[in-house]
Amino acid sequence: MRVALRLLMKVFVTRRIPQEGLAVLSQAADCTVQQWDSDEPIPQKELLAGVAGKDGLLCLLSEQIDRAVLDAAGPNLKVISTLSVGFDHLALEEIKKRGIRVGYTPDILTDATAELSVALLLATCRRLPESVEEVKNGGWTTWKPLWMCGYGLSNSTVGILGLGRIGQAIARRLKPFGVKRFLYTGCHPKPEMAAEFQAEFVPLTKLAEESDFVMVTCSLTPDTKGMCNKNFFCKMKKTAVFINTSRGAVVNQDDLYQALVSGEISAAGLDVTTPEPLPTDHPLLSLKNCVILPHIGSATYATRNTMSALAANNLLAGLRGESMPSELKL
Ligand code: NDP
Ligand code: DGY
Repeated sequence: MRVALRLLMKVFVTRRIPQEGLAVLSQAADCTVQQWDSDEPIPQKELLAGVAGKDGLLCLLSEQIDRAVLDAAGPNLKVISTLSVGFDHLALEEIKKRGIRVGYTPDILTDATAELSVALLLATCRRLPESVEEVKNGGWTTWKPLWMCGYGLSNSTVGILGLGRIGQAIARRLKPFGVKRFLYTGCHPKPEMAAEFQAEFVPLTKLAEESDFVMVTCSLTPDTKGMCNKNFFCKMKKTAVFINTSRGAVVNQDDLYQALVSGEISAAGLDVTTPEPLPTDHPLLSLKNCVILPHIGSATYATRNTMSALAANNLLAGLRGESMPSELKL
């Protein structure tokens, strides 16, 4: 009698991930898991060594999966599963050329990220961090009619740069605040999506000129890189507030700094920066009218657990040659 021997598939996980995802991988009888078991980023040397000879890679947005990593992995690598919806850290052309499948985590983080975007908008336009600071440092001397005023959402115009999953979820949450008008830009109009908010598709310039609040929710691509620059900020209203929860590189940060310092725009809230983490002596951090968060858009316990399980299931399905729960079309 002949017994068919199936080789175990080898998987590399580049960081400590939530338990749910790890459990999915450890319970898979057909794979062995090696992990960089730390909350801190894997050094490049360890990444190159860890990925060598693996069939599957579960990675994070903070790792650049480029030609060097793919070469180090070698020809066995069949699936890359990223614990993110953004995939700008993956060298997709090269990945496609090598016939590697890619999994990612859309939809399940949309609510958490939209919620955080709205929280950041409110914190920025109503000056919450600055106000909290004043309470602590004794700046709160009495109730003053002209003190700590900001801009409210009622009757405002909100411009959404990229009306995708998260952009729409933000508009849905902002509508009950009394926003009067929604504008959006993108690669093409999306009348079905826009109908819910009566959102108007407009050129980027018009969005900059007419919005009281600009929400950046597009993906980072060669076209969107540096899109929010001097030209963009100088067209915005002086009273306008700029929020970015997409990727830091969509914004030219030097131009943003100048716009904030010169009063060209009123305030900015950023959940994403270049680089990440932003150095603690970065000029943007010296500004009272700039609120910066450490990339926590999807950071709820439930969302991160679900993301890790989805990333693990994407990886296993891809390795088994099955359809993935969320596969990126290359
Ligand atoms: P979607 O793919 O649903 O949306 C991306 C949007 O970007 C689309 O509406 C697309 O427009 C738009 N876009 C692409 N190119 C351009 C362009 N040249 N000009 C204007 N808009 C453009 O993705 P999600 O909504 O799920 O996620 C969006 C991004 O948010 C992710 O790629 C990621 O970078 C970031 N993100 C950040 C998080 C955080 O923690 N801060 C959490 C989750 C995501 P069109 O439809 O017309 O092509
Ligand atoms: C993503 O998923 O792209 C975010 O930036 C982190 O959740």
